[in-house]
Amino acid sequence: MPGDGASQSDALAAAPAGTAFVRARGVRKAYRTGEREVAALRGADLEIAEPGFYGIMGASGSGKSTLLYLLAGLDRADAGEIEVGGARIDRMSEDELTLHRRRRIGVVFQQYNLLPTLTALENVMLPGILDGMARGPLEARARELLGTLGLAERATHRPEAMSGGEQQRVAIARALLFGPPVLFADEPTGALDSANSERMWRMLDELARERRMVVLMVTHEPAAAAHCRHVFVIRDGVVAGGFETKGMHASDLVVRASGLGGPAR
Ligand SMILES: Nc1ncnc2c1ncn2[C@@H]1O[C@H](COP(=O)(O)OP(=O)(O)O)[C@@H](O)[C@H]1O
Ligand SMILES: [Mg+2]
Repeated sequence: MPGDGASQSDALAAAPAGTAFVRARGVRKAYRTGEREVAALRGADLEIAEPGFYGIMGASGSGKSTLLYLLAGLDRADAGEIEVGGARIDRMSEDELTLHRRRRIGVVFQQYNLLPTLTALENVMLPGILDGMARGPLEARARELLGTLGLAERATHRPEAMSGGEQQRVAIARALLFGPPVLFADEPTGALDSANSERMWRMLDELARERRMVVLMVTHEPAAAAHCRHVFVIRDGVVAGGFETKGMHASDLVVRASGLGGPAR
């Protein structure tokens, strides 16, 4: 953490800083349902060594969500190395992984996963409460994040009293509580209309730039990928390639991605 007075007095500054870095090497994952086995990942490789907003595209069922889950430490790979935020998560114990997930990474999904009985502020504070943080600095940090995401006026609202876009921004504020160097998002705008989706993509790009984070987003929307600096394409459980998206129109992006991803199934 930078050593200014404000952050030294902040109890949350004690959380490990980590680095904006993501690497997968030879990652494999199969799901067994009864007699059947589905190989979701067959040796996926990916490396991100610079902060920024990155995308993962690919046909439905190609393994995008599985890769994101494994990178986020929500499930274990069958084989392969995974390094996230400066730590080898494939070598961690369950307890280490739990702390890593809480403090060093953020995750958001299509569903906002907010607790319906808690206010926006309480939802954002929840990971800090679970981590035993002192209430004062925790609340200050949560309010600051809600403000950053344009939700200062919504602090005391419960999820049901907020729009989908607002709820997703609360979920992002919660994911940013510990100032993680890496944020994972799986189709975060899947339930939002196009105006709110655009706003969300611009916001994720800004967060990545201003906080020097890696933001890695699974998406099937070319308009979303156009906001990313680089897009990885998954095909049949491997990362088939990637390309820079700078200056690319959404329509060119579709052509480029489908060239790497094969026909949609
Ligand atoms: N929990 C699960 N149990 C069984 N099969 C699964 C499970 N999750 C994913 N799969 C299968 O693994 C493959 C990859 O799925 P997924 O990673 O969700 O793809 P994507 O996100 O690209 O649509 C698909 O064939 C899917 O049916
Ligand atoms: Mg998916």
